[in-house]
Amino acid sequence: MLNSIVQFCLFRLDAEFAHNLTIQALRKGFGPSYPSSDDPALKVRLWDKTFPNPVGLAAGFDKNAQVIAPILNLGFGFTEVGTVTPRPQQGNPKPRVFRATGQHAVINRMGFPNLGLKNFQENLTEFLEQKPRPSGLVGLNIGVNKENMAKDFNAATRDYMILLRALAPMADYLVVNISSPNTAGLRNFQSASQFRKLMDLLKTERDKTCGQHPPPLLVKLAPDLSDADIQELAKTALDINIDGLILTNTTLSRPQWQKQKPFNEKFKMQKGGLSGKPLFKKSNSVIKSFYQHTKGQIPIIGAGGIETGQDAFEKILSGASLIQLYTGLVYQGPSVANHICSDLSRLLKDNGYKNIQDAVGKGDDSNKN
Ligand code: FNR
Repeated sequence: MLNSIVQFCLFRLDAEFAHNLTIQALRKGFGPSYPSSDDPALKVRLWDKTFPNPVGLAAGFDKNAQVIAPILNLGFGFTEVGTVTPRPQQGNPKPRVFRATGQHAVINRMGFPNLGLKNFQENLTEFLEQKPRPSGLVGLNIGVNKENMAKDFNAATRDYMILLRALAPMADYLVVNISSPNTAGLRNFQSASQFRKLMDLLKTERDKTCGQHPPPLLVKLAPDLSDADIQELAKTALDINIDGLILTNTTLSRPQWQKQKPFNEKFKMQKGGLSGKPLFKKSNSVIKSFYQHTKGQIPIIGAGGIETGQDAFEKILSGASLIQLYTGLVYQGPSVANHICSDLSRLLKDNGYKNIQDAVGKGDDSNKN
């Protein structure tokens, strides 16, 4: 009830203002607390780490690593903080976040506003030194300052290098974001040749920086890839041994979720990336495609339009070993991870799966045991 009232009030405010208020409230300890699921079937063992449950918060919500503990206390099994860039930057002019409540969608063109590496590292250190710490893992998502992206490949690569050197030793996993649609040129890293070059450099640097225990290096991709792009990227990812894929970021296309509640023209015409329910099917098909082309050999974190346990289950059946959401938190409120976990426990049982790993990629009949 209280959650519904808070949500009703927040929806009356500008979307970014409401987000900032939420971050401030969480920082001050006003967030609710839900127990993390203790169902052993939901635990996921990946990259030599144990995720207490497969439901994570996607990047972009906690850009400056300010609310890691309050987010994990909502029952998330992990949170991905960032995207952080080496230097602080303002991002695009406001307004730059828009809701379509009937469609459970958001369009954003934030452009990586963030307080920069130094502040991010301080906040992260504060969390890591906290005792006791809430259970749950922390992924770090890295990007490029706008002016360096505008220069050339080498300048942009240097930004990733700076971030990797500083953050890899602190990460449970590290994500190279090459798929935000709001930094001009960033998605060019998704061409197979640039992708290979960048990831080769970063992997070498990570191994040099971290020695015996390097964190897994993941890459986050867009849903706006052709079948040919996917095939080529999947092959390259296998060739260069990428540890994991995050599929997907927001889309530049404008698919509808419910035909009876179409987008209004003003929303639909906003520049930026679309997230939420209308992205659900598109991201699932990208996950299925990568899962098939990589023969299930590269773990996938699935994101895009997840609000319920059933949505999360479909992502897992499509090939995701873990799932993430952002827009679902906006529309379902702070208990969303908790609800998804209870539903997932039931869905696994009802469908005869022992645990999450057992269900990964089984959506397609050809992948069934
Ligand atoms: C995002 N997303 C995002 N992703 C990322 O890698 N770095 C970022 O900084 C951001 N920023 C961001 C801001 C806003 C307002 C939104 C709505 C989204 C993308 C996000 O992590 C996720 O991949 C997509 O939103 C799809 O998941 P949902 O939102 O449909 O659950």
